[in-house]
Amino acid sequence: MHEGLRDIEGFEISFHEKSKRIININIENQIIERLIFHFKKFNITALEYKPFTRFAIAKSLNDIASGELGVFFNSILRNRNAGCFIIGTKKISTKIDQTFLVKLSTAITHLIGNPNHDAMAEKYYARFHVKHEDDSDSYLRKAYINMDLHTDGTYVKEKTDWLLMSKLEEENVEGGETVLLHLDDWEHLNDLFNDEIGKQNYIWGSPKSKKVDYKVEHPVFSEDKNGNPQISYIDQFPEPKNMEQGLFLQKLSDALEESKNKIIIPLSVGSLVVVNNYFWLHGRRAFKKNKNLSRELLRIRGSFFNN
Ligand SMILES: [Fe+2]
Repeated sequence: MHEGLRDIEGFEISFHEKSKRIININIENQIIERLIFHFKKFNITALEYKPFTRFAIAKSLNDIASGELGVFFNSILRNRNAGCFIIGTKKISTKIDQTFLVKLSTAITHLIGNPNHDAMAEKYYARFHVKHEDDSDSYLRKAYINMDLHTDGTYVKEKTDWLLMSKLEEENVEGGETVLLHLDDWEHLNDLFNDEIGKQNYIWGSPKSKKVDYKVEHPVFSEDKNGNPQISYIDQFPEPKNMEQGLFLQKLSDALEESKNKIIIPLSVGSLVVVNNYFWLHGRRAFKKNKNLSRELLRIRGSFFNN
């Protein structure tokens, strides 16, 4: 057994083929059957209205996984050399529908921490579509433009320690792959992290659709308690105060996008990716044009139980 991996009955656990920093967790069929059975007790409305039911569903997932999954998730996410896992099934069956995936996402996240209220959806999670046409005000739903590498929660007061993204559905999709970059794999980390301008306070706002009516201030780079670099950055929302800040952000954006160490993953329907939001950046490649393009995603962001 390699360092960072673990044996849990009913789960096939390995390093991701594209990076040893990503742990791949395949749920075997017999576990899916049991989850479907146990998840039936819960309905989505109850999960939305009664927060305690989310912990009950998380407990049932953990129990089915020999009581080990919660500890395992947390150890991956807090491990600086990893910090990311992708969980899904080998074969997608018709039994794995969107309701099941909302429940599975809820169960997984509630073994990690508390979700933040997602103002865009007014729930603890958000579901959204990416389609051919879009009239929104952010890159989130713009199918034909790259969504550049970023972290989440840059413009909110809540701590955003981690985020989960699930792919619920997809049709007529080519391109649109998930892009990930671990800060320690980034060629320009030292250069940018050691630039004092990155440690200044920046103002972060957000467009109307995000439904956040305040602005926050924080630097782009900070250090964790062990002195490791952390980043909080997205291209669209910082409001540079002067030329110095504007040019720093431009340099940062260019240096991230030109990185050769980005990991490009075509995430399959029914897969969930969970990342530590302080040292993993995520983005999406542009889709190939198609009038019937449709993808539905789910996201949950939150804080660790023990910070
Ligand atoms: Fe994001």
